[in-house]
Amino acid sequence: MTAEFLDTTLFCNCCGSKQPSTQVVVSRGNPSARLMLIGEAPGAREDELGEPFVGRSGKVLDKLFKDVGINPLEDVFICNVVKCRPPKNRRPTKEELLISFPWLNQQIELVDPWVIILSGSTAVEAVLGLKEKITSLRGVWRAWEGRMVMPLFHPSYLLRNPSKTEGGPVALTRGDLLQVKNRLKDLHKAIAMPM
Ligand code: URA
Repeated sequence: MTAEFLDTTLFCNCCGSKQPSTQVVVSRGNPSARLMLIGEAPGAREDELGEPFVGRSGKVLDKLFKDVGINPLEDVFICNVVKCRPPKNRRPTKEELLISFPWLNQQIELVDPWVIILSGSTAVEAVLGLKEKITSLRGVWRAWEGRMVMPLFHPSYLLRNPSKTEGGPVALTRGDLLQVKNRLKDLHKAIAMPM
């Protein structure tokens, strides 16, 4: 693993903002994990602490991982498409997604996950090039560059739609994560028992 890959002291001003982010937010979790989650871009808390998904969205995410038996510290590598906080938390522009993609792609190649979770429509657009609504993309497996990819609602959407009812976004996301967990279990079994 290269030093730049883990270096959180890098700075970036790819958006040209007069108020650039505090620091580049690279990743958290296990770089040897078979599961990778890709979000959109750091928010205020992530910019402050230098790790992705450590604010309110991160808490929702970690709880859902734990609900389905995925350990967020050991079983998953977490990063974002864009590595620095966009001004005023706006959605990254298409240009920023394109500028950021080579770094993300390098992370994917180095971690070499079997399964990738794309958290929210921005991550889906950046990786799969799809601009459809996340409501129709989530929960459906895709193949990308030889890896299994699962789009999910972004946890910030779950914060805005917290209903715990059956068929609601939280329950659907828990179901999607169970699919991810089971797929990983099957892949582990298949590797342990070659034909
Ligand atoms: N939202 C994201 O997409 N990523 C983070 O790291 C935090 C919030």
